[in-house]
Parts: sequence; structure tokens; C-alpha cells
Amino acid sequence: MKMLKTSELTFKDPGDFTRLRDVFEKAGYSDKGVLDVIGVKDFPSMKGTDVPLLLRRTKDNSPLNTLIRLFLIEAPCNMDAVKLAVLPMKLESLVEAGIVQMDGASVTAAVKLMPYKNFHIAFDLPCMLQSGSRKNYVMGIGSSTLTLANLTIRKQSRRTLDLGAGCGIHAFLAAGHSGSVIATDLNPRAVRFAEFNARLNNLSHVQCLEGDLFGPVKGEKFDLVVSNPPFVISPETQYIYRDGGMEGDRITQKIISEVPEFLNEGGYCQILCNWAELRGQDWKDRLHKWFEGTGCDAWVLRSETLDAETYALTWIRHTEKAETGQFPQQFQKWMDYYETQGIASMGAGLITLRRSGGRLNWFRADDAPEKMQGPCGDDIVRGFELRDFLETITDDSMLLNSQFRISPEARLERQSKPSSEGWLDESVRLRLATGLTYSGNIDHFVANMLIKCNGQRKLGDLMNDMAQALQTDAEKIRASFCSIVRHLVERGFLLPPNS
Ligand SMILES: C[S@@+](CC[C@H](N)C(=O)[O-])C[C@H]1O[C@@H](n2cnc3c(N)ncnc32)[C@H](O)[C@@H]1O
Repeated sequence: MKMLKTSELTFKDPGDFTRLRDVFEKAGYSDKGVLDVIGVKDFPSMKGTDVPLLLRRTKDNSPLNTLIRLFLIEAPCNMDAVKLAVLPMKLESLVEAGIVQMDGASVTAAVKLMPYKNFHIAFDLPCMLQSGSRKNYVMGIGSSTLTLANLTIRKQSRRTLDLGAGCGIHAFLAAGHSGSVIATDLNPRAVRFAEFNARLNNLSHVQCLEGDLFGPVKGEKFDLVVSNPPFVISPETQYIYRDGGMEGDRITQKIISEVPEFLNEGGYCQILCNWAELRGQDWKDRLHKWFEGTGCDAWVLRSETLDAETYALTWIRHTEKAETGQFPQQFQKWMDYYETQGIASMGAGLITLRRSGGRLNWFRADDAPEKMQGPCGDDIVRGFELRDFLETITDDSMLLNSQFRISPEARLERQSKPSSEGWLDESVRLRLATGLTYSGNIDHFVANMLIKCNGQRKLGDLMNDMAQALQTDAEKIRASFCSIVRHLVERGFLLPPNS
């Protein structure tokens, strides 16, 4: 495999960026165009075993089929077919830019170049992970990329930073709601890819800079910082994209401690990451300490936790393919490392900070709902607003004096089982239909209270109604009633009337 040099990945004639964009547009090389031809929705996760099927579906010599074969399937293509597919561009320009390479009369891709949303994104061919240059591999759109994109706050930002930008995808997505964007990366190859992609997608307000963490943006302020850092916790330092090069989860801690000085007041930072869960220590207590003195409110949304063995197994399988013969030794090395560090499991999820100076900051940590039916950025912002609101309700009397309305996204599902008297309610489940789809079982007293939340009746009245239905004294249910309501507000089932 020819290794792409960092001096490549640009066109001598800048007009070729526009020409290549036009080539893709004319051929229909887009999300939809590709889906229509190959019938695979999730083509970023296509596997080698899918190739025969994909080659069959693209066998006719249309420009679109040639582009799919070349850049998505990574199949050798006939030179004349490629020349025709890229007209009016010259094949030589693509060769000189290091995007494709010639082998006799056939052409193969030297980079992966795929449509994603309204963009075309170039990144390294996965086979580079098997080569001697794998350390500098620039990853494409992976599952962590998609998760962060789904959770990113999409409100208007004057200036956005994508820290550890790789091929630049988060920077490009943020470009649609930002005055300007800076994409930074330690890996010079990643910066070249991001620069190339920014130009190919005509995003002149995205600037790509090389350097370690916040080094390239000293003295700057942002409304939004997004990062999918190299968060894998392991004894390895094999890949820049995967291994932060620091002990345990230090890279995430470092980003959290340094980001506040780069945030405008009210600005958000979102980090998709893993953290170590230490033996004998509550993970929430450990993470809480990371935010002390940052001047930021923080919300940790844990999407999963994996025991150390499963975590090691998954990552070694996923990223250490070149060393498969070494698997038992590698696994032992990872497990020894976790043992020394006292690591029992790894948490994974999204950490969001919001710079909020001049007062005591709050910290929230909870498990994410099973489904995050995106885009969820608005739900993240609303989660911050609801928690802010709850912080102002300092005692239960204030809460009971407030009026709430039920979220229009709330759904109630009853599960019943047959009995001699007919259907018998077994459980009543409350969930949110979109975004962060929190859910949980409730009893029908709470369900009845919820539906009366019309933004006009005071919660205290609703508590009295409930006490009557339960044939008890309102004072007896007051504490648990208020605690349930706080929980329902925090998760967005109940909304303050003017929210
Ligand atoms: C997991 S990849 C994420 C790439 C891309 N943002 C995405 O979400 O698909 C992590 C990226 O961080 C970069 N990186 C690693 N160490 C870094 C550091 N100390 N400073 C800045 N970037 C770094 C890697 O080169 C890589 O591109």
C-alpha cells in the first residue's frame, strides 16, 4: 500500500476542489445516491464480506457505480471508467493529490472518500491499520463520531472548537451553526485531511490547526467546544487516534481542567469519552472531583459501563488486528495494567460542561436512556435549564407552590395481563418519545397527577388530590411526592410553565 504523504492531499489547481465537488454532485455520489444503488443504509460500517454483493450491485459502468467502487468499496477500477467518471477533472490531478493511485491500467483509492450528510469526507483507508504507519492513522466516521454528532448542541455559536478533529467531521457539522470554527489535531496527517475536506466542502470559515490539545488556540474563547478525544484506557500508545498517551483517563481530565479558560460565559464543552471506574469507589464521586474549581456546571451522561475484561477484549479485537497471534499476551498486558491502576470497569458517555461563573456550580451524573433518538442537542440544553430551575427551588414549599405542565413528548404505556376479572394492569411505563427517551415505571397515582399538570394548577393542590385518592394525610406523602416531582422535572417529563 502506498502511504499518503502529508505533502499530498491538496490540488495544485485550487479549481479542482470545485470540479471534484461538481463531479460528485453530477454523478449523484451522495448519501441517497449510494443508498439507492447499494441498498446499504449504514455504509460506514460495511465489512469485507459485503464486497461481492456490493460489486454485483455496482457492475454497470455508470460514473456513480465507478465512484462507489473506487472510494467506498476500495475495488480496483478500470482507468478509462475512472477517467470518464471524474470528467472534466483530469485523473492525473487525483493521482498527484495522492487520492488515487495507478497500477497499470487500473486505478485504486489511496484514501477513503465518502458522502456523509451533505459533505464528502476523506480519511485513511482502514487497511493502513495493518501497516507500519498505523500510528498516524486518521479515522473516519465511527460509532463514537456518530454518537457525539447526535448529542452535539446545535444552537448558534459565534466560535466553535473541534478538539482532536481527525478528518474534521464535527467541525463541518458545527459550521452550519457557527460564525467560525477551528479544528485542531496533534496528528499532522489529520490536519491535512481536515484542511482538504474543508476545501472540498467549500467551508471557508473552518480553520484547521496542528498542535497538542489547546496549544493552537491559546487566548481564544469559544461558545462551543466539542471533542471525541483518544479516550481508550489501555497500556498502549500505538495509535494517536485511540491512545491519549497518558495514564488511565488523564487526557479527559486534562481537557476538563483546561477548557474553562477557553469558554465564553454560558459556553458549552462536550466530550465523548471513557473513564475508569475504580474498585471500591463510586464512579460519580470520582468524576465529581474533576469539576471542582472549574467554574462550570457539569452533566455526565453514562451510556454504558463495561467490566475491564470485556472492555479489553472489545478494543483489542477491534483495533489490534495486526497482532492477532499475540492476543493472549496482549490481553494479559491490558489486564495487568487495570489491576495496577485498581480499575474494575470503564464508563462511557458524554460529559457536558457549561461555564457558569459567580455562583456555586452543580454536578449531575446519571445513566443515559437506552435510546437517544437524535438529534439530542436541544435535550442537553434543556437538561441544563431544568437543573438550573431546580437549583432555584430551594425547598419543598417552593416546589409545591409552582405550576408545571406535562411534556408533549410524554407517553404512557400500560402492560396488562389476563385475569379472571379481565385485563389486569401489570405495569404503567412512562417514557419520552423523542431525544433523550428517559423511561421508568410509575404507579397510576403518579400517572393521574401528571395528566393534571396543565401549567395552571399548583403542585400542592395536586398533592392534596393524590393524598385523598390514597386516603392518607398529605403531610405523609409530601417528601416522597416532592422527590418524585424533582426527578420528573430533571428528566424533562414535567416542565416549568414558561419553559
Ligand atoms: C477518536 S479520534 C476522533 C476523530 C474525530 N473527531 C471523530 O470524532 O471522528 C481522536 C483524535 O484526536 C487526535 N489527538 C490525539 N491526541 C491529541 C492531542 N494531544 N491533541 C489534539 N488532538 C489529539 C487524534 O489524532 C484523533 O484525530
